[in-house]
Amino acid sequence: MKNILITGGAGFIGSNFVIHMLDKYPEYNIIVYDKLTYAGNLDNLLSVSDNPRYHFVKGDICDPLTVAETITRYNIDTIVNFAAETHVDRSIMQPDAFIQTGVYGTYVLLEAARQFGLERYHQISTDEVYGHIPAGYSSVETDKLDPRSPYAASKASGDLLVNAYFITYGLPVTITRGSNNIGPFQYPEKVVPLFATNALDGLPLPLYGDGRQMREYQYVGDHCEAIDLVLHTGKLGEAYNIGTGVEMENVTMVEILLETLGRSHDLIRHVADRPGHDRRYSLNIDKIRALGWEPRHTAEEAIRQTAVWYRDNEWWWRKIKSGEFRQYYETQYGERLRATES
Ligand code: NAD
Ligand code: TYD
Repeated sequence: MKNILITGGAGFIGSNFVIHMLDKYPEYNIIVYDKLTYAGNLDNLLSVSDNPRYHFVKGDICDPLTVAETITRYNIDTIVNFAAETHVDRSIMQPDAFIQTGVYGTYVLLEAARQFGLERYHQISTDEVYGHIPAGYSSVETDKLDPRSPYAASKASGDLLVNAYFITYGLPVTITRGSNNIGPFQYPEKVVPLFATNALDGLPLPLYGDGRQMREYQYVGDHCEAIDLVLHTGKLGEAYNIGTGVEMENVTMVEILLETLGRSHDLIRHVADRPGHDRRYSLNIDKIRALGWEPRHTAEEAIRQTAVWYRDNEWWWRKIKSGEFRQYYETQYGERLRATES
């Protein structure tokens, strides 16, 4: 492994992973390949922009020619695929790009990996592929995939394609399925950065339904370390869950966030729920633990650290929230929030 193509590397987790890899492996070259959708942001990569081992290519993973040119030009031996449309609420409004990138785009990358005989293809997946998990159970990697949103279905489809390329062509693949990540550079449509930035501005926090849905909030840096470990020591053809093994209700997450930022509970608004909302995700993480990994942060520490990062980095999120985001926010929350006022 020497020249690594990181697709979706200008997004939230991808950019954290790029920074981690450049820092940890002085012998690796990192080539970010990213379409720069609304969620892609070169500000995330400012700290490495002068690094001679970092290169950026603007491109779509659905475009086989540009993918092939990039692999040839940079002598790529490994692909780590973060590229995806990632917000469940947007997938409910407009699923098309989710299917294009998550299904066709994954196929284009797998086919390129096969044709160029790459050393490794690694797919970044999610706990959402398992669907809603009843109380008392935690998903293991061999469980049936049971996605319930267009986003989750696009990710599950990607996983199935990766598996098919392993079985049919012997492509050296691995998959990681992460739980909800939080930390620096997360686009403020996801719940923790949305609520942190709204709270800082004294705006309402639109909590879906009763707010008792459960998620496994994990610190993005922990997730990046686990991906790195699977890339270097994971077994080919296998998937690995990455989380904390501890889930938390959204109402608890909001309390911790507000307390950290010193803002009032009065900002919380219970709004109409998301259609098909998965109530609980929960991962069994024994398999990644067996590789020698442990999360360094509890969910509470991750939430507090993330809240502080948003408090201290207005330069990063203010310009996002004043752009395209406003229209999205009105479409997504306008009616729901106004309904709580009457
Ligand atoms: P993000 O939305 O912040 O970033 C996605 C990146 O992919 C952006 O830079 C975007 O420009 C790029 N992209 C989108 N479509 C593309 C295309 N067709 N070609 C090239 N680039 C494209 O997402 P994120 O939260 O960093 O998630 C990264 C990956 O991790 C995704 O695959 C996601 O499914 C997975 N994941 C995310 C979480 C989470 O909590 N955020 C949890 C588990 C797994
Ligand atoms: P989100 O960050 O969108 O991640 P995902 O749906 O992929 O898990 O949402 C996390 C949880 O927060 C989920 O249970 C939905 C809830 N949520 C709200 O209550 N209000 C919001 O405005 C958003 C975006 C999410």
